[in-house]
Amino acid sequence: MALLSSLLVAIAVQSAYATRTTNTKTRQCVQLEIPIKLSSFTTTKWQQPRVDSTVDAVDWVDWMTTWTTPADKAAGNVTINGTFKINGQLCVPPEGAKSDILQIATHGVGFDKRYWDVEIKPEQYSWVDYTLAQGYSIFTYDRLGTGSSDKPDAYDIVQTDDQVEILRQLTLLLRSGKLISSSKKLGGVNTLDRYTPDKIVHVGHSFGSICTIGLLQINGSISDGAILTGFLPNNQLGGISVGTWGFEFARESDPKRFSDRGSGYIVQKTKYNVLLSFLKKGSFEPALLDYAEQIKQPNSVSEFVSIGAIFGTPAKDFKAPVQFVVGENDYGFCRGECYNTYNITEIETDYYPAASKIAIHIQPKTGHGLALSTNATAGYKATFDFLRSVGL
Ligand SMILES: *[C@@H]1O[C@H](CO)[C@@H](O)[C@H](O)[C@H]1NC(C)=O
Ligand SMILES: *[C@@H]1O[C@H](CO)[C@@H](O)[C@H](O)[C@H]1NC(C)=O
Ligand SMILES: *[C@@H]1O[C@H](CO)[C@@H](O)[C@H](O)[C@H]1NC(C)=O
Ligand SMILES: *[C@@H]1O[C@H](CO)[C@@H](O)[C@H](O)[C@H]1NC(C)=O
Ligand SMILES: *[C@@H]1O[C@H](CO)[C@@H](O)[C@H](O)[C@H]1NC(C)=O
Repeated sequence: MALLSSLLVAIAVQSAYATRTTNTKTRQCVQLEIPIKLSSFTTTKWQQPRVDSTVDAVDWVDWMTTWTTPADKAAGNVTINGTFKINGQLCVPPEGAKSDILQIATHGVGFDKRYWDVEIKPEQYSWVDYTLAQGYSIFTYDRLGTGSSDKPDAYDIVQTDDQVEILRQLTLLLRSGKLISSSKKLGGVNTLDRYTPDKIVHVGHSFGSICTIGLLQINGSISDGAILTGFLPNNQLGGISVGTWGFEFARESDPKRFSDRGSGYIVQKTKYNVLLSFLKKGSFEPALLDYAEQIKQPNSVSEFVSIGAIFGTPAKDFKAPVQFVVGENDYGFCRGECYNTYNITEIETDYYPAASKIAIHIQPKTGHGLALSTNATAGYKATFDFLRSVGL
């Protein structure tokens, strides 16, 4: 029975995907392999245990969460050089009233770009479809180390700073209209080659919001607006242990799926681990939990270790509007209840002192995985209402 239902999910996923990528009436998309060069780029050398087995993965979690571990885990600098292939998709609505406004969406830990484009009941869950239906364009990509992008060294290379740098380079390529000409086309339409957006809105989920926050710190004028989902600065942040993720060494946890992940890539073992981190009982459909497990992605140990680096630096030059969106019952970020945990004056001071507008939307009775939760579309509407209210 379980086998049958997962088989049905697999078939549904495949056929939905096939029809949706070829239906150019509603979706004009191009799939790309984008080379991003990091030359003499400085990242941090972290003093952390290596992870080459699940015993090591548990030991890494032990090390991350014991009080004797030094708060400053940095052990020096590393200079990285290399060109990394990033897999991305640009979609422009055929008759979009706002197609010159481009969203650049960065997914979080545990997923790849499919987080934004849920293939089960897309009319209810897909952020990409919703965005196109509202007339906006959207670019989604697999962050380095996930999906169909390169999966380099999980210690020195795949960490927050270079995820931010990759997002910066992708943004400049898109803004200049040179993204497609600098990439290898993998599929899709040929009509977008000269697409050049007029405005760019950065959208993040979870760690993708953290990367976006990092981007706005280093270049406040790179964005015309930011939507930070699955993230809210609040007095419970950091209260949930990384131990709750249920991490295993990816290649050992699922050798079939994750044979291309090397040392230091870890993944949530079961769908119930995924449930605790991303969903809330009462606001998800069982098929969506199965789907979340099916599309789950490993992450690098250094992504977790390096997250803290972006906190504490206000984006003084960011003058555009920003909206924070979080599920009321977000477990990891609010310890299960987001109401009455935040102070908007402090958010303004600590994050966006020059923003033209700061808004917060709490999506009721919803967990961390907003796009996988039953009331997703009503939450999307709150964001697009916000965008229109600020002239985007
Ligand atoms: C590491 O690099 C940063 C800037 O990239 C620099 O400020 C710092 O001094 C460097 N640290 C060491 C130990 O070289
Ligand atoms: C990258 O290039 C810099 C400058 O040429 C060099 O100092 C550094 O050792 C190189 N790093 C790696 C990992 O090759
Ligand atoms: C910052 O963003 C602006 C506006 O897109 C761009 O012109 C500039 O080159 C960017 N600078 C950097 C260092 O990314
Ligand atoms: C919010 O933070 C500001 C600045 O720290 C403080 O003055 C204010 O009392 C706080 N508001 C509440 C409701 O705690
Ligand atoms: C669904 O979300 C909307 C927008 O946030 C909210 O007004 C509504 O109460 C939610 N519905 C349920 C059943 O939680």
